Amino acid sequence: MPYNRNILCIGAGYVGGPTMAMIAHQCPDYRVTVVDINPERIAAWNSDELPIYEPGLDEIVRAVRGKNLFFSTDVEQGIRENDIIFVSVNTPTKTFGVGAGMAADLQYWEKTARQILQYAQTPKIVIEKSTLPVKTAQAMESILRHTGNGIWFEVLSNPEFLAEGSAIRDLTNPDRVLIGSRETKSGLLARQILVDIYASWVPRERILTSNIWSSELSKLVSNAFLAQRISSINAISALCEKTEADVEEVARAVGMDSRIGPKFLNASIGFGGSCFKKDILNLVYLCRHYGLDDVAAYWESVVRINEYQQERFMGTMLTAMFNTLAGKRICLFGFAFKANTGDTRESPAIFIARRLMEEKAEVVITDPQALKNARVDLNDTAGNVRYVADPYEAAAGCHAIAVLTEWDLYRKLDYRRIYESMEQPAFLFDGRNILDHQGCFDLGFNVFPLGKPPLKHF
Ligand code: UDX
Ligand code: ADP
Repeated sequence: MPYNRNILCIGAGYVGGPTMAMIAHQCPDYRVTVVDINPERIAAWNSDELPIYEPGLDEIVRAVRGKNLFFSTDVEQGIRENDIIFVSVNTPTKTFGVGAGMAADLQYWEKTARQILQYAQTPKIVIEKSTLPVKTAQAMESILRHTGNGIWFEVLSNPEFLAEGSAIRDLTNPDRVLIGSRETKSGLLARQILVDIYASWVPRERILTSNIWSSELSKLVSNAFLAQRISSINAISALCEKTEADVEEVARAVGMDSRIGPKFLNASIGFGGSCFKKDILNLVYLCRHYGLDDVAAYWESVVRINEYQQERFMGTMLTAMFNTLAGKRICLFGFAFKANTGDTRESPAIFIARRLMEEKAEVVITDPQALKNARVDLNDTAGNVRYVADPYEAAAGCHAIAVLTEWDLYRKLDYRRIYESMEQPAFLFDGRNILDHQGCFDLGFNVFPLGKPPLKHF
């Protein structure tokens, strides 16, 4: 059947894949193609084992793949055949040159812009989906428009707000969809085309439109605000441990103020994921660029507290276990940066595993989805590390367990069985506050929650 519109997405990652599956699912009259330069990734999208774990994603992909959703490595053909192009390629933090460790590395993104330019034969709407520094759209316009080939490119910003682990729910029922465009005649026309796509399932009042710079900045600021809440409660967790206050009780009391709200107040070993740190550092870089050093320092402190919290967790383990971890076997319950994903990008577990190995501890890692990525993350370490799928097997013979990811599975294990299989005295460090601390203490564990007094037998 002829399709109403043909849509392309360049980049088949955690954002591009699920987002395009949702558009194809909600808009059966649109033909959606997702291209990527990584042939293994595309093969996985075309197989029964998708390249990313995301609850609910399999069902949606299975329903539309081959009907109006297609995955391909043919970037050139994709650009030729589609006039609406989402760009969802990776934009990691630069590791070299000016802005190293802070600014976004735009090489993949710029390469994409040049590919679009090279292959386009008709006018295109190019939509930034990757998180990008403010004013990237301007750079993209500069590359696309200064060609003299007469083809018109309209650049829009449409940042993605989905969170991993709940991507399908977030895409189905987003708090808002944000679309930024130039406020010119062609910009407003392109904006309307994108509004129409989302209006197929998102209530119109939740589709916000703005100028392109506000849209780009809103994404960075949303993530900075969310991360700031986590760093705020994590900073307070340190104070709770000194004062015998309980961080969960404090968070509950604070969060019941309707002006503050209860979400994102769970103390943890620190936030991970591909976005928070990267986006804050982008914001910091931008502020410095404009001479706003005090503003930059303010936001940078959110990242600093996150690092402090991870180091603090290590310090607690070391002190509790008689100041030496050498030769001790520590089991990490969870390696993903959060539950319900296999993604380990910027996971605090990477830092903790490495630090444990520096202390000459043996590390046993278990996780229901992230072991494959964990192996890649740690493949350069010479330390003693094992990967074990079954949590009982992983914990057996260990001196301590550290809960690093809040997988539901870990709440439901038989901790008596686990305790009996471990070296004594057995330690439990709950970096997510998800276990029954008193119950585990009663079984014999020495329990170290976050932001609460420890429960010790000595
Ligand atoms: C985030 C934003 O939520 C999303 O809108 C944006 O599009 C991408 O970045 P994501 O990184 O996938 O999403 O997950 P999120 O749920 O925000 O969690 C980020 C990190 O914060 C995780 O490591 C999580 O464990 C941690 N976290 C979250 C806490 O430590 N405490 C909390 O209360 C909430
Ligand atoms: P995100 O979490 O933002 O979706 P990912 O790293 O998961 O980021 O996905 C980005 C994808 O973009 C990767 O699969 C990568 O291979 C792909 N990619 C990078 N550059 C290009 C390019 N020039 N053309 C097509 N795909 C690209």
